[in-house]
Amino acid sequence: MLTSPFKSDVLKGRVALITGGGSGINFGIAKVFASHGADVAIMGRREEVLKAAVAELSKFGGKTFYKTGDVRDAEACEAVINATAEALGGIDILINGAAGNFLCPPEMLSSNGFKTVIDIDLNGTFNMSRCAFTHLKKSQGLIINISATLHYKGTPFQSHVSAAKAGIDALTINLAAEWGPFGIRVCGIAPGPIGDTEGMRRLAPGEIGEKLKQAIPLKRYGTTEEIGMAALFLSSSAAQYITGETLVVDGGEWLARPSPVPRELVEKMVAAQTRKEPSA
Ligand code: COA
Repeated sequence: MLTSPFKSDVLKGRVALITGGGSGINFGIAKVFASHGADVAIMGRREEVLKAAVAELSKFGGKTFYKTGDVRDAEACEAVINATAEALGGIDILINGAAGNFLCPPEMLSSNGFKTVIDIDLNGTFNMSRCAFTHLKKSQGLIINISATLHYKGTPFQSHVSAAKAGIDALTINLAAEWGPFGIRVCGIAPGPIGDTEGMRRLAPGEIGEKLKQAIPLKRYGTTEEIGMAALFLSSSAAQYITGETLVVDGGEWLARPSPVPRELVEKMVAAQTRKEPSA
């Protein structure tokens, strides 16, 4: 566990609803929120996963709640949001984290495969945000949309997810502009490769993962707790003037590209020209 720079009651009295909150990055956010005093509700498709997650979250001492539902289904979204508000007394923070992902070349992807990911990631984010509007207006609350960095470049085999995440980023900006006057902030987090998640097991199994780590400037995967801490920062008063911003938390992964010339060779060339010794 990280040593938190935040007080352990920084989210006391606030209710967070997290879609896809039973596992992976979203469960990491749920744990960080619960350990900082929030009452936490989670939504997902699998009851047994939600039940187990809530049992763990309850250990932090706050109130917890779960309800099954699919973010593609607008009626289910409404039911989950209303049940959460009733069970926990309102909603202050909505985390749109539910997502679907798999690798597939675009020419092999069916129209329904593309639509499925757009439906879960993008339409699900819209469905939940729209249904939560009244509650968030009342609480002067916050939405955090979980995005990605895939669409900052062309990422192979991820056309469906890239398109969905680009749409989510657009939604973050638009909702921030339109709902700011109602007292609602809308932000995003774009995680890079995060260890111990279903996503990374699917996208970079085994040795591929080790190779990927070496290409990250900080030379490691991130943790679900680090994404939780970024969400905690955005939810805190330290970020109260931040809206419409998607915070990249990726160890520099997306912005780095390998040099075609090895560092040792460049150091030797520079040393020869300047008579300086190469670094150890
Ligand atoms: N490669 C290519 N196409 C795929 C696919 C894959 N790995 N997985 C699903 N699809 C296609 C299906 O073939 C289907 O299209 P078709 O009707 O033309 O055949 C379409 O997507 C819907 O698939 P289906 O399995 O019926 O949808 P679902 O709603 O049950 O699940 C996902 C879709 C994306 C959520 C599924 O991959 C899943 O359950 N993933 C686990 C959660 C996850 O992705 N976590 C990682 C988060 S980063």
